[in-house]
Parts: sequence; C-alpha cells; structure tokens
Amino acid sequence: MTTQTTAQPTNWQRIDTTQSDYFIDYLDTATAQVEMQRYKQKTYDLIGAVPGATLLDIGCGTGDDAIALAQLVGATGHVVGLDRSAVLIEEACRRVTDDLAVVFTVGDSHHLPFEADSFDGCRIDRVLMHLDDPQCAIREAIRVTRPGGRILVREPDWETLILDCSDRDLSRRILNAHFDGAIRHSTIGRQLYRLFCQAGLDHVAIPDTSTLILTEFATANQLYGLTDAAAQAQDQWPELYDSIQTWLDELQQADRDGHFFSAVVGLTVIGCKPMPPS
Ligand SMILES: C[S@@+](CC[C@H](N)C(=O)[O-])C[C@H]1O[C@@H](n2cnc3c(N)ncnc32)[C@H](O)[C@@H]1O
Repeated sequence: MTTQTTAQPTNWQRIDTTQSDYFIDYLDTATAQVEMQRYKQKTYDLIGAVPGATLLDIGCGTGDDAIALAQLVGATGHVVGLDRSAVLIEEACRRVTDDLAVVFTVGDSHHLPFEADSFDGCRIDRVLMHLDDPQCAIREAIRVTRPGGRILVREPDWETLILDCSDRDLSRRILNAHFDGAIRHSTIGRQLYRLFCQAGLDHVAIPDTSTLILTEFATANQLYGLTDAAAQAQDQWPELYDSIQTWLDELQQADRDGHFFSAVVGLTVIGCKPMPPS
C-alpha cells in the first residue's frame, strides 16, 4: 500500500535525534485547533495564573503555554518551561518576543532540577502518556509545588478515539494496536483521577473534559497517524490486509465526500498539595 509520511505522536523521548521539524509541526497543528486553545486557556485559570504567581510548565514543548502563562503572571510573577528536548527548548526561547518573566530549561520530569516548594503551581499538558514513570513525575511536581499550591495534568485517552466508519470492530483493533505501540501510556486519561488520589493530593477533581473533533482527514492523519496505523496493522495481520485497506479507503472517501469525522476525549485533573500538619 502507499503510505504518506506523517508526524506520528510517537518517539517523544527521541526528538533531538529524529526529525525535530515533524514534532514542531505536529505541536503547532495540534495547538491551532480551536478546542485545544479552549482547554489550554482553561488550564491557565485553573492553575492560578494571576499576577505575581510562580508557575512551572513541565514538558513545555515549543513554549507557547509557558509564554501565555508569563503574560498572565506579569512582571511580578515568574514562569519556567522545562522540557527534555534541547531542540524544543531552543524553539521555545526563539518564540519569546516580548520582555516576559519566563525562562526555559532542559530537564527531565522524573528528576526536576528545583528546590522543594519552589512554585505556586505546576502544569503538565500531554506529557505523562510518554513517560517511563508518570507516577514519579507527579511526585516530582508535588515536591516542587508549595503546600496549598496546585498541580494540573491534561491528557487524552486514546481508546476514546472514534472514527465514523462501517467496520467498528476492525477500526478499534487498528487504533488500539497503533496507540498501544506508539504511546507508552495510551489510556492514561482514565487513570488521572486515581493517580492524583493515590499521590495524596487534596481536592482532586476533573474540572474540564473536551472532545477534539476533526473533520479533515489530512489533519487527523497528521495528529493520529491513520495511514501508519493501517500499514502497521497490515504487517501485523496480513490475513486482514484487504479489510484494512477498505477501512483506510473508506476514511479517505469520506473526506472527499465532505463528511470525514473523528473525535477523541481529553481530561484535565487538578489537585492541591496538602498543607503540613500544624
Ligand atoms: C505531546 S508534547 C506536549 C508539549 C506541550 N506540553 C504542549 O501541550 O504543546 C510532549 C512533550 O513532552 C516532552 N517530554 C517527553 N519526555 C519528557 C521528560 N522525561 N521530561 C520532560 N519532558 C519530556 C517532549 O519533549 C514534548 O515536548
């Protein structure tokens, strides 16, 4: 079959050694979606981005959220964006055009290079799903947040990705295999509430959920890697080769006919670091 190259949501641990332009383009396409903008804006309110606040954006990518947070906390506040990728941190620094109280640093979310109780709030947006140890990253976020401060995580749950197509069972099988292979914790969205409760946070809540709806095959293919998913499934299940091709053809035909439809759920969890016993 003919596959087109896509910027798959995979290999986020190896950005600096692979084609970083793909990852930057991927992040920009995702961020450009109206629903992504809406939920991101809401996270800024929830994390407490008010003048004077000190905030950490863990896994900040190209830095757009940290820059937006810096605009909200103003000159009396302070924002740090941390990412494991030196290439993305370089891109984030390049995007700071105004005189803002924001710094970017390369670092690992499993071992944050900050003192305990350094920040009023920590924000983690679509990062935990890629990590070796999401619970360790949550513990680290709690450690560097002051007592009473907020920790916010936003993640999708890839098993909720639905496509309007006739063979639902095959579609689920292809997508589950694809995301389970590409994303270390592909269904972490549904685990967030439990992970926050188990981490000992107070006032744990899911204050926002969203459904990202994409009605263009090209955008869905860039963000979800549908052609790659089909190719991988054909390699894995050669006996289903024709059915998988029909699945892909149907999606592309739907796009030509103007009614391609995809939707995936994302969840925002928030909690507060407990105050020490008095
Ligand atoms: C899907 S991107 C999300 C970027 C950004 N938060 C956003 O919403 O646009 C995942 C990010 O996590 C970063 N990342 C992956 N593993 C990491 C780690 N161990 N420590 C810090 N950042 C990490 C990647 O470099 C990438 O920038």
